[in-house]
Amino acid sequence: MPRYCLGSTNAIAFWSGAWATIPENEPARWKDGESRKTFEHVYSLLVDQGALTEPAAIFVPLCGDGKFLQHAHSKGNTVTGCDLVPLAIDRLKRQFQSSFTEHKNAQGSHEYESERVRLVCGDILKLQVREKANLIYDKDAFGAIPVAMRPAYLDKIVEMCQPGTHVFLEVKFKQTDQEHGPPFHFLRADIEKYYGERGFVLVSYNPSVYPLSNSSMNQQGFLFRYP
Ligand SMILES: C[S@@+](CC[C@H](N)C(=O)[O-])C[C@H]1O[C@@H](n2cnc3c(N)ncnc32)[C@H](O)[C@@H]1O
Repeated sequence: MPRYCLGSTNAIAFWSGAWATIPENEPARWKDGESRKTFEHVYSLLVDQGALTEPAAIFVPLCGDGKFLQHAHSKGNTVTGCDLVPLAIDRLKRQFQSSFTEHKNAQGSHEYESERVRLVCGDILKLQVREKANLIYDKDAFGAIPVAMRPAYLDKIVEMCQPGTHVFLEVKFKQTDQEHGPPFHFLRADIEKYYGERGFVLVSYNPSVYPLSNSSMNQQGFLFRYP
């Protein structure tokens, strides 16, 4: 049996519980191996490869308090993040040297806005697309989505895409405990199938974006382009 099964009714409880156990400024479990250098490197690589032309519209689904959004914003880009848990969004907001306006949208999610920043605290599936993205950075987001939600999640990703949008995706390959999650285990072929079926073209694949302290896992990286 899966360790948990996220339905629409228990996702908030599950993830709020997870966030409540993570002290501020301590790396969350899914940040294992990640450092500022990693995403600065990934960002420069995307610019160097022509996958990203600045200034761009960048979307980070299931962003948590990941520091990539603030980094991308500091380069002049417009950034959008979405996460279910208020604590995660609060911690993320504090990374920006700006004051935010807040409103509740028609879907019942709280939105926080500042210059070139939109942070939505709510279910990704309810996110209203305002601006299509040039780059989507999915860092351990798809790997956190339970099987039943995957088609709807991918539909939302597609909704955020326009011709030429790149999706940089990091998911974990697990040598043990493959049937449990999160993080859910993915083979390279699974990911290529999910994205290939929606028309994405694989630009590059990296079997190990950075080493993880848990040596039974690999952080796989995929760069896809929406046609
Ligand atoms: C594994 S963490 C990854 C966070 C971030 N991308 C990072 O790598 O630091 C997964 C995140 O997804 C959020 N989440 C889970 N289900 C969600 C949903 N349906 N809509 C929005 N956020 C969700 C959780 O609150 C959690 O912060």
